[in-house]
Amino acid sequence: MDFELTETQHLIVTTARDYVERAVRPAAALLDRQARFPSAELAGLAALGMMGVNIPAELGGAEAGAVAYALAMMEVARGCASTAVTMGVTNMVGEAIARFGSEGQRRTYVPRLTSGEYVAGAFALSEPGAGSDPGGMTTTATRSDRGWLLNGQKQWITSGSRAGVVVVWARTDSAEARLGSKGLSCFLVEQNTPGLETGRHEEKLGLCASETVSLSFTDCVLPDEALLGEVGGGFKIAMMALDGGRIGIASQAIGIGTAALEAAIAYAKERKQFGQAIAEFQAIQWMIADSKVELEAARLLTLRAASMKERGGVRFTREAAIAKLFASEAAWRVCDRALQIHGGYGYVKEFPVERHLRDVRVTRIYEGTSEIQRIVIARASLG
Ligand code: CAA
Repeated sequence: MDFELTETQHLIVTTARDYVERAVRPAAALLDRQARFPSAELAGLAALGMMGVNIPAELGGAEAGAVAYALAMMEVARGCASTAVTMGVTNMVGEAIARFGSEGQRRTYVPRLTSGEYVAGAFALSEPGAGSDPGGMTTTATRSDRGWLLNGQKQWITSGSRAGVVVVWARTDSAEARLGSKGLSCFLVEQNTPGLETGRHEEKLGLCASETVSLSFTDCVLPDEALLGEVGGGFKIAMMALDGGRIGIASQAIGIGTAALEAAIAYAKERKQFGQAIAEFQAIQWMIADSKVELEAARLLTLRAASMKERGGVRFTREAAIAKLFASEAAWRVCDRALQIHGGYGYVKEFPVERHLRDVRVTRIYEGTSEIQRIVIARASLG
């Protein structure tokens, strides 16, 4: 066990931090206020290898590993949570294609994601009636003489209208009975495919600069080569991709929490009440100490899961769920304490902590709610 970063990990962290400090953090408040998609910031990150941190170099990735990816996500989320989630989903999509794709799919799509030619990738699993239970999805892909015919609706799709390629799950088993996780397959759908339309752009509590849309597919014709993996193998691809994605969301939560704690510390040192800086009061010190401990614990759990993923050959489903559950819940408490330390100033948009609180909230929901993480952890523990 070694808690020191490798040279590569250190380089990724300093590269990400330097760019984020210069180009992302200063833009974050305005991006949020204007709900403006961070195209320029994402292009800058792509140029630095951040869209494929854990993707092989032969596909345009940085090939720096899953730990470096988690560390990079923490840095980007510390600067702008909206930019971070867009980067996170793009990395997840790139990794899924690199891992499960045919040689043709890998060569076609992954370099476009890692290079920034595609501003983002999208992951279309959830539907209006199937969120925590993706096995309940009703989107179908049926065989026709023209190829696969895709019909249905997807919801809560990050970067859905921006992504060059959307990974879409659909039911390919024609049996009428609900088959749950069985009979689902996975397809790569290019953005300009006829029959694919973008629906509502969601107005969200937080992550206002990231895009969240619904997508509809009406007789969308897909060639045979659009199938990712095996027919019927879609559920496992989704779950394995989400195992890695959850490490990314844990890292995102830690990054947001870190930004909130830093703001709280700076404010506590500067703000005077009763003739002294409020940082002198034990009540404030305890809040800062609790936040520091929780973020450090979250970081260790997250890097452990990332390290297991990087080592390969072992299932890290439970460890990723533990990291996501703990980090997202802890970061929420950290952001709440940071706002409390700011008092009334925490509640207004002049200070950043209200944005951090809004942004961090969804980390307890997406890529599996905290309740779903507990199900995953309990099932893995009970055997
Ligand atoms: N790795 C590999 N295989 C897995 C797996 C994993 N992590 N998880 C499940 N499987 C396999 C099981 O072994 C089982 O295989 P067999 O059929 O061969 O036995 C099969 O998949 C079915 O597993 P379950 O019976 O456990 O499936 P379930 O229907 O009970 O669901 C669940 C389990 C954990 C609740 C799962 O449905 C789940 O994770 N739900 C949450 C979904 C989610 O996270 N959605 C997020 C949407 S994406 C998003 O938010 C992206 C964004 O834009 C930010």
